[in-house]
Amino acid sequence: LEKVPVPQDGYDFVVVSNRLPVDRDVDEDGNSTWRRSPGGLVSALAPVMAQRDGAWVGWHGAPDETLEPFDHDVFHLVPVSLSELEVKRYYEGFSNATLWPLYHDVIAPPEFHRTWWYAYRRVNERFARRAAETASQGATVWVQDYQLQLVPRMLRRLRPDVTIGFFNHIPFPPTEIYSQLPWRKAVLEGLTGADLIGFQRPGDAQNFQRCVRKYLGVQFTKGSARFSEDTADGESTEWTVNAGSYPISIDVESIKELASDPQVQARAREIREELGNPDTVFLGVDRLDYTKGIRHRIKAYGELLEDGEISVENSVLVQVASPSRERVDSYRQLRELVEGMVGRINGQFDTISHTAVRYLHHGYPFEEMVALYLAADVMLVTALRDGMNLVAKEYVAARQDRSGRLVLSEFTGAAEQLKQAVLVNPHDIDGLKSAMLHARDMSDAEARKRMSSMRRQVLTHDVVDWSHRFLDDLAAHAPEHEQGAAA
Ligand code: G6P
Repeated sequence: LEKVPVPQDGYDFVVVSNRLPVDRDVDEDGNSTWRRSPGGLVSALAPVMAQRDGAWVGWHGAPDETLEPFDHDVFHLVPVSLSELEVKRYYEGFSNATLWPLYHDVIAPPEFHRTWWYAYRRVNERFARRAAETASQGATVWVQDYQLQLVPRMLRRLRPDVTIGFFNHIPFPPTEIYSQLPWRKAVLEGLTGADLIGFQRPGDAQNFQRCVRKYLGVQFTKGSARFSEDTADGESTEWTVNAGSYPISIDVESIKELASDPQVQARAREIREELGNPDTVFLGVDRLDYTKGIRHRIKAYGELLEDGEISVENSVLVQVASPSRERVDSYRQLRELVEGMVGRINGQFDTISHTAVRYLHHGYPFEEMVALYLAADVMLVTALRDGMNLVAKEYVAARQDRSGRLVLSEFTGAAEQLKQAVLVNPHDIDGLKSAMLHARDMSDAEARKRMSSMRRQVLTHDVVDWSHRFLDDLAAHAPEHEQGAAA
């Protein structure tokens, strides 16, 4: 990769992620308008974008379509195009059928295909070039997530003057699992092009450092290691890579605002009424993904009905499963399994007036999600592996009266911060069943005590704090660039 010239009209702060932070609405006449995507990352970075002359490089979500850069609210958006075949091989294939299962404890078997890897490399290079053409002299570029792990090193070659951050939103696996990846060395080389690499949990950062020692032969000391490389012009360049944990959070303010909104509160009461005012509303909210432990949760719920510990008259499980990655095989299979289980349980236990499991395979507006959080007595987060799990934090932020109980898998990043949740191993179905009953039956005083302490954690660590922590460290860890720029 040859250096690319610094653009005249570049941006000081560039975010690079697989998806752009906007969604498209198309009306009846085929006119499209863009809407800011929901989610913490987007709201956290919006103020930084506005303040620092920022741009966002990403895919706009449709295949075989080239769009010119455009502005939308505070964002300058730089679309990267993907062909239909690249969507198959880079996005559905390598990102979501190789890396995703590999990084989530091989819950589903990862598939290794060379054609997918070639597409991943080619698309990562396209993102790196777009970033290189967008960043001003000495800019800060922040690359997001597992779809773009090769971008940091490519970008360093194209633009040695920029400061590069990388944040991995999903777990980083232990060496024993990571080793399966046929391109394990190339991926680590890609990541170590960054000045700062952030992970969700300290354990993820440790796994990464062990993998680097094993496959690149470079030792981290106190989260920091030196790297060097020969450049295209026959010189050599050196830099320091820092790696550490930066647990992501949520946009607390916007949730508090919605949770205080009388209309949302009225909707929460209406939901309970429409459910027939049961004593206990259990709630699950997930993308329909095999990492989320939806099957384990439904199995436990079905057994509680079977055991007579709960009944369709006094309890309901509301399971929102938003459609996700629907063309990937393991996601199709999961949908069949989950819908089969729900059908069997409902067939067995429903009455004309009551349903055991309200299964909703839709995405909902955020107001409706907050209304559901307010309507639920027991929130069930039973992921088998999850980088963080923001649903758990959103539920806590929404419960302003400090009521509500959270059952939380110990295999989520969130469990390291929400220690007062009822923690479970979702593989242990008996343990999960007792945790669900324990959450339901615990005294209000006990539930309030736990919720208060979880709220203290979430309210004092929102996603804006997260982005500042990362960006401040990135600025502090990149002194070489500042010297370079000054010289
Ligand atoms: C996870 C990943 C994100 C991804 C999101 C939705 O949270 O960490 O990078 O954007 O899932 O998945 P999708 O494949 O629809 O972008």
